[in-house]
Amino acid sequence: MKFVLLFTLLTIILISAPSIYGEELKINIIYTGALEGELEPCGCSPQSDFGGLARFSGFLNDHSDSLLPYILIDAGNFLAAESPQGRLKADAMIKSFAILKYDAVALLPDEDAVADDFVNPLLKKQSVPTVSFGPYAKETAVIKKDLLDINVSVDPEDCPDGKLNILLTNHPVSAASGIPGWDVIISSSGETMEEPLQVDNTLILSGYPKGEKFGVLTLKVNQTGEVLSSRHEWVPLGNEIDEDKRVRKILDDYDVKVARFYKESLKPLPGTTYLGVSGCVECHQPFIESWEKTRHAHAYESLEEVGKESDPECIICHVIGFGEKGGFFSMEATPELANVQCEACHGLNREHIEDFSKMRPISESVCLKCHTRANSPEFEYQKYVDKIKHE
Ligand code: HEC
Ligand code: HEC
Ligand code: HEC
Ligand code: HEC
Repeated sequence: MKFVLLFTLLTIILISAPSIYGEELKINIIYTGALEGELEPCGCSPQSDFGGLARFSGFLNDHSDSLLPYILIDAGNFLAAESPQGRLKADAMIKSFAILKYDAVALLPDEDAVADDFVNPLLKKQSVPTVSFGPYAKETAVIKKDLLDINVSVDPEDCPDGKLNILLTNHPVSAASGIPGWDVIISSSGETMEEPLQVDNTLILSGYPKGEKFGVLTLKVNQTGEVLSSRHEWVPLGNEIDEDKRVRKILDDYDVKVARFYKESLKPLPGTTYLGVSGCVECHQPFIESWEKTRHAHAYESLEEVGKESDPECIICHVIGFGEKGGFFSMEATPELANVQCEACHGLNREHIEDFSKMRPISESVCLKCHTRANSPEFEYQKYVDKIKHE
């Protein structure tokens, strides 16, 4: 009896559903912003091992059934700072965007970023739909998804009736919340938000810095783009996610290009500034034994294990004096300066050999140069000093 009742109820719900919800359309807005050239996380700490475009693409492939219908948007600030390596990153980034099939990517003015006249031809070549104030693209794109017209723009004025309107901006959330009329505003200022901020009828979001998580805003809308209800979710990109092999190949190609750039374009800066462990050994043997038991003594190996020993952006914290006169340059040129050695903490002072009192005092700021929040989120000075103390 109960079953019959249940069955009847279910049938009624199923049959009546289209008429009740016929006007309603569902759309997932999947978004990033403030990727800042982050192709993949460095893996310096399990606590910060989130994000990466190969994982992102892998996740979307594996979950497209539950995510469809969706549009994929980047709210801007996806470039690294201007440098030769920044340009290699931009290239890899945009090739990955093409595989991910972004529906719209905002290219917003940012002084530090790789130049527009380098980036725009790449976006064009890879057919990545771009919205921008620049001469190369339009400010607005209209994306058609099923019966819905979605107006995605970087122009705060371009907010027509009858569409679902999404504004992409690099203004901070506080400034974005003063822009009227939009259904959704996505900021790429790099601020973190737990939940969307609702101001009048506008939902304001902010792309998670460096893409450690991506956002999914689920909207129920009617055909004129009016938002009936919304739900938001952050999806963290942890290392359990299967990578998209096509994006992985792009990232591996990037590593090869970086290694080539490092080998062909960078030059060691001669000088005899750093002594290295071998310069301290004759007088401080016991300290060297205790140092050898710490992870600092194997910091370069860690890069080799993940195939990043030829990436200047990684080497810098895993050796002494990279980029300085007489500092580490390469395993061939300066093997004695690999790893985080004595002078990384005690400072560089050759005069110490004549005047033993001259060595810089250790303080927290010495560690923070490398133990940044991004690379060492667990860092606490006392806890960490206890682990490396010379005994
Ligand atoms: C700003 C300094 C800094 C930069 C840049 C840096 N690292 Fe690190 N790395 C660290 C620190 C500090 C740790 C130790 C973190 C901890 O345990 O708290 C670490 C640890 C690691 C480890 C060991 C992780 C483990 O648990 O065994 C690996 C691997 C690593 N880094 C790879 C990289 C790669 C690859 C890059 C470049 C993409 C990079 N690092 C760039 C500072 C840096
Ligand atoms: C020629 C011998 C000699 C060499 C080489 C040498 N030191 Fe020293 N160092 C000493 C002596 C002696 C002292 C004073 C010991 C004491 O006060 O107990 C000292 C003291 C220190 C101190 C403590 C300073 C203080 O203010 O308490 C540090 C740190 C130090 N050395 C680091 C180094 C480092 C790092 C190197 C290698 C770059 C190095 N030393 C090379 C002989 C040497
Ligand atoms: C030149 C950069 C640099 C400086 C300066 C530096 N570290 Fe590190 N530290 C690293 C790197 C890189 C690692 C990771 C080594 C690895 O496993 O590859 C690390 C690892 C560690 C670890 C091991 C973490 C663990 O959980 O086992 C401790 C502890 C640590 N550092 C403490 C300190 C302290 C305390 C200072 C300051 C007095 C300091 N470090 C200064 C780069 C640095
Ligand atoms: C990760 C940072 C770090 C590195 C690398 C490091 N030290 Fe130290 N060292 C310290 C700290 C912190 C102290 C003070 C606390 C202590 O005595 O352990 C110290 C103290 C010392 C002292 C003075 C001890 C005293 O009793 O006054 C000497 C000498 C010294 N270190 C030598 C070395 C030598 C030689 C190396 C390289 C083999 C080295 N240190 C590598 C952090 C470091």
